[in-house]
Amino acid sequence: MPPEQTQAAPSPSAPLTVSQKAQLTAGATMWTTRAVPEAGIPSLTLADGPMGIASGRVDERDVSLLTPSGVALGATWDVDLVRRIGALVGGEATRRGVDMVLAPNVNLPRSPLAGRAFELFSEDPFLTGALGTAWASGLQSMGVGAVVKHLVCNDSETQRNSMNVVVSEAALREVYLLPFEMAAAAGCGGLLTAYNRVNGQWCSEHGHILQTTVKQAWAWPGLTISDWFGTQSTLGSAQGGLDLEMPGPARFLGEKFGDAVDRGEVDAGRLDDAVDRLARAARRFSGDKPAPLPDDAAQALLEDAAAAGFTLLRNEGDLLPLVPGRERVIAVIGPNATAPCFQGGTFAKIAVRADAPTPLEALCARFGGVAEILYEPGVDPQPRLPAMPARPARDIGDGCAAGMTLDYFDNPELTGAPVGSETRNTNVLTWFVGMHENGVWTRPAGIRASGRVRAEVSGPHQFHVGATGSVRLLIDGIEVFARQRTLAPGDIMGVLKAGDADWIAHDLQAGQEVLVTVEFTYQVARAHGVWYGVRAPDDPDAMRRRAVAAAAKADAVLLIVGETADSGVESRDRTTTALDPAQIALIEAVTAANPRTAIIANVGHAFDTRWEVQAAALMICWYPGEAFAPALAAVLAGDREPGGRMPVTIAARDADYPAFDLTPDAQGDLVYDEGTEIGYRSFAARGLAPRHALGAGFGYARFDWSDPAVTRVDGGYEVAVTVQNTSARHGSDLVQVYLTAPRFALAGFARVELAAGERRRVVVAVADRRLMVWRDGWVRSDAPHTLALSRSAVDPVFTLELEPVSP
Ligand code: BGC
Repeated sequence: MPPEQTQAAPSPSAPLTVSQKAQLTAGATMWTTRAVPEAGIPSLTLADGPMGIASGRVDERDVSLLTPSGVALGATWDVDLVRRIGALVGGEATRRGVDMVLAPNVNLPRSPLAGRAFELFSEDPFLTGALGTAWASGLQSMGVGAVVKHLVCNDSETQRNSMNVVVSEAALREVYLLPFEMAAAAGCGGLLTAYNRVNGQWCSEHGHILQTTVKQAWAWPGLTISDWFGTQSTLGSAQGGLDLEMPGPARFLGEKFGDAVDRGEVDAGRLDDAVDRLARAARRFSGDKPAPLPDDAAQALLEDAAAAGFTLLRNEGDLLPLVPGRERVIAVIGPNATAPCFQGGTFAKIAVRADAPTPLEALCARFGGVAEILYEPGVDPQPRLPAMPARPARDIGDGCAAGMTLDYFDNPELTGAPVGSETRNTNVLTWFVGMHENGVWTRPAGIRASGRVRAEVSGPHQFHVGATGSVRLLIDGIEVFARQRTLAPGDIMGVLKAGDADWIAHDLQAGQEVLVTVEFTYQVARAHGVWYGVRAPDDPDAMRRRAVAAAAKADAVLLIVGETADSGVESRDRTTTALDPAQIALIEAVTAANPRTAIIANVGHAFDTRWEVQAAALMICWYPGEAFAPALAAVLAGDREPGGRMPVTIAARDADYPAFDLTPDAQGDLVYDEGTEIGYRSFAARGLAPRHALGAGFGYARFDWSDPAVTRVDGGYEVAVTVQNTSARHGSDLVQVYLTAPRFALAGFARVELAAGERRRVVVAVADRRLMVWRDGWVRSDAPHTLALSRSAVDPVFTLELEPVSP
């Protein structure tokens, strides 16, 4: 990305009055900054990321391209590919008139329970920094600014708005700040401050981090922005180094910043600093932007990226790929075959195009002509909130034949004519105050959603409903459920995405149609949501029996299990690493019926895979974005390789993770006891064998390594090895270089793609900084240094001693 220093110097902010300057320090609206056109400071439009462009709303109509999530990109270990994905998101931003995107997320998954782990590249800070920087560079190559988030230690969600991370300065510098430092050095436009505190101070007011480290020590000229509603005080933010409070209108900055300057409580230079940084970002990112990728090229890239992250960890008897024509009958089993988890559940959820194929559809298309495909879900594909398959109660002339009719009222009694109506084909609705600018949706006092639901089978149907305020459910005009509730805005996503809904049973006969009405009323709050659904009766035992029967008949089984988009969310961490118990029972039953089973896991973080020994193959697909299905069909058929290597460690037992429980103590402190020994480093330090190590995984091709060598170069080392593809297939390999003494850490990596039989010299750069530790400054110890060329954190192939470096 072009270093920011090369941009035209900002015009002096001196001609502006203190009040004008102060106003610039807070947003104008939910997603825009203020402008001073006469001083050449345009307004910026921001949007949420990173898996695409989301304006913070969950609206099924606002379709955008959905890329693989952070952990899926982390599994690619492919800097160039990740840069191209950043550029693709940049193109989406351009299409929507967005100047800066709140992404990438370079926090680290300390624990497998972290609610947003799916959004994070890797547990290794250097890999995260390299990929995060590549993503940001790609985005910025499209003229769109990257706001790298969340500075810093926002590595968990429990009590995220108040908790205090207690962490050593060495762990901060070497681990948690490192990805931000790398992105800043490469010229990222912005940094988003985290909600939490670090060592007693709010991140949005953290002078040691924002001023002393980021602005002074790193000499970074970009813009610091508060996470949404994440400011705590005027003086703290102004003195601590925050430049822009978001969203607007102002709460603690804006005019109040100017008042504090006028009263002499904050140095005028601090206000100038904030305004200069905003002006620089506004000029840098508001200009003309290059054209986005054409759609077919974007789709091809999304498929490449999804497949490049699929991580094959087990493949007994070379079950995969399923050579088309070899298996006569293929059973496709599992909930995620028809209900794939493309993404996680943050505010940045992307509305995916309605015609994105499911894995089952893509597998039928790929294998359908040559094999008989049997499909059984085995368990309910919607274990939490079911869909609401309804027909609108009223035709409002919008051409929508599916969904619920929504009527908006300006009073909590929902009386009089609606102030607006629309049809929405979704089971989750959320609103953010100030987000909908047309005045109608900004603060509606009540909403009635109504639609006709037809029963396909007879029996007790479960009607689910949940909301952030008061909610009633009526069937054919008769109230069957009512509840009062008030939620803190920070809880909304966790509660909503955990499918936290009540349900009642209501008997329906096959063919019967009922009018379902949900009425929602609320007080003014920062965000609102209402969600609903209906589940038809089914018998779990019968579902499993049907799946087992299909498995027993098949020559091979593709068992596609995993999560739903409400498994990984903002504001809530998970409580377990285990898959849903019903899915584990399904795995046991299906693998017992047919050991030629490949388990395809659609999971977004480290999780318990102890059942894998019962299956011939295990491949983790993470949350692969909208191209999941075509990528999966191509990989399972052997048209493509599964390119992924583990971006995180999977422990043999939960007790082995160096950090697990994410609940702060009674004082709100979460102590990072493991210090710099995050993830794989701690397993090595304690001599524990993980179930799957960082970097583990393989494709279909096979490679030999020979002639390792290390050369001193300016600023570091070059580690070289000859890689030969010894197989008859095209494929890619990953050379990992670890520092193994005096401490253990990933020091470099390089991907190489080779045709069958091809050989190439692969060079991995290892910067001096990778060998240094923080001791009130960066130092390299005098102890002997050893590097290993490895296939994973536990699989060294060659070891190389480094010559001592003269001071
Ligand atoms: C999240 C950020 C996000 C912001 C805007 C916050 O709740 O922590 O990651 O960018 O909302 O939607």
